[in-house]
Amino acid sequence: MKVTIVGAGNVGATAADVIASRSIASEVVLLDIKEGFAEGKALDIMQTATTRGFNTRVVGTTSDYSKTSNSDVVVITSGIPRKPGMTREELIGINAKIVKDVTKNILEHSNNPIIIIVSNPMDSMTYLALKSSGLDKNRIIGMGGALDSSRFKTYISLALNKPANDIHAMVIGGHGDTTMIPLSRFAKYNGLSLSNFLSESKIEEVVKSTMVGGATLTKLLGTSAWYAPGSSIAYVVDSVLNDHNRIIPSSVYLDGEYGFSDICIGVPCVIGKNGVEKIISLDLNNEEKSIFSKSVDAVKSMNESLNDHLWFFINYHYFVSDVLNHIFACQKN
Ligand code: NAI
Ligand code: 2OP
Repeated sequence: MKVTIVGAGNVGATAADVIASRSIASEVVLLDIKEGFAEGKALDIMQTATTRGFNTRVVGTTSDYSKTSNSDVVVITSGIPRKPGMTREELIGINAKIVKDVTKNILEHSNNPIIIIVSNPMDSMTYLALKSSGLDKNRIIGMGGALDSSRFKTYISLALNKPANDIHAMVIGGHGDTTMIPLSRFAKYNGLSLSNFLSESKIEEVVKSTMVGGATLTKLLGTSAWYAPGSSIAYVVDSVLNDHNRIIPSSVYLDGEYGFSDICIGVPCVIGKNGVEKIISLDLNNEEKSIFSKSVDAVKSMNESLNDHLWFFINYHYFVSDVLNHIFACQKN
């Protein structure tokens, strides 16, 4: 089983490290545009094989897409991360162009891979990858809900002072500070509702901490987080490659589910060898439905701005090419 990870930065390299160290795939290809960067990260990870006991082959390449050929799963993390004070949404201009180009390059060498989108703003990047790739909707998965849910579970476990593994909870909606929806009504500690153990205000505090979970780390680290994102990617990849059929909140294309269409947004899904095997319909109450609807509106308006950004970049690209051609022509003469 072969996994390609595009972008060997903090998140991509951490995902490669977790996938290799847990022997989730037999081969991991790391690709980055930065000269030598992916090769260096791959070699460094490979040199932990004997001390950690795995056989996964990790290969790095500077933009040689032929090395990614016949990948079963491709993870796209290439792009810029947010800095303190920035929202994920502010990254759209640069990352849209990168995600579109990377998707095209990948499909020249892999026939029908499952693509996991990580680059932010993730829901819009997932929608863009789906529209530009022409792949079936079950083969494009946006990773964000896995991470937000693991943050939610962490904050619940801290509030309860109980092991995180005894907690089940999920976050749906957009992967944004104001668009994500930690579903406290569905959260359980060993099958029991949180309200048995925590006051309403404490639950509210946990929900708030979850929603700014990424921003809190960005403030502390000066850039966005990587251990939990990398590990969440590996969790999704594992569910696909090993057909675990785990229920993982993921950003997927809705075609009438939850009453919405033509949008990629976080909902609980069964993730298996065909990617999205099933979208689970939750019985949301009116308040939850109304919050979900607002989240849909926010993601849709972000999607609408995609065209403007791509238009700008394509024109900018042609403008720069024209200017360079003109300069070279003048120099020749
Ligand atoms: P980073 O800056 O450490 O790594 C990004 C890498 O992408 C860089 O090494 C860069 O050289 C590479 N890159 C840029 N353009 C490329 C191209 N055209 N082809 C190949 N490689 C290219 O950033 P980090 O922290 O790894 O974050 C990556 C992305 O993931 C960001 O957009 C960030 O916001 C997003 N993110 C999403 C999460 C989620 O849950 N969906 C969680 C954490 C980060
Ligand atoms: C995170 O949630 C910024 O999406 C990134 O850490």
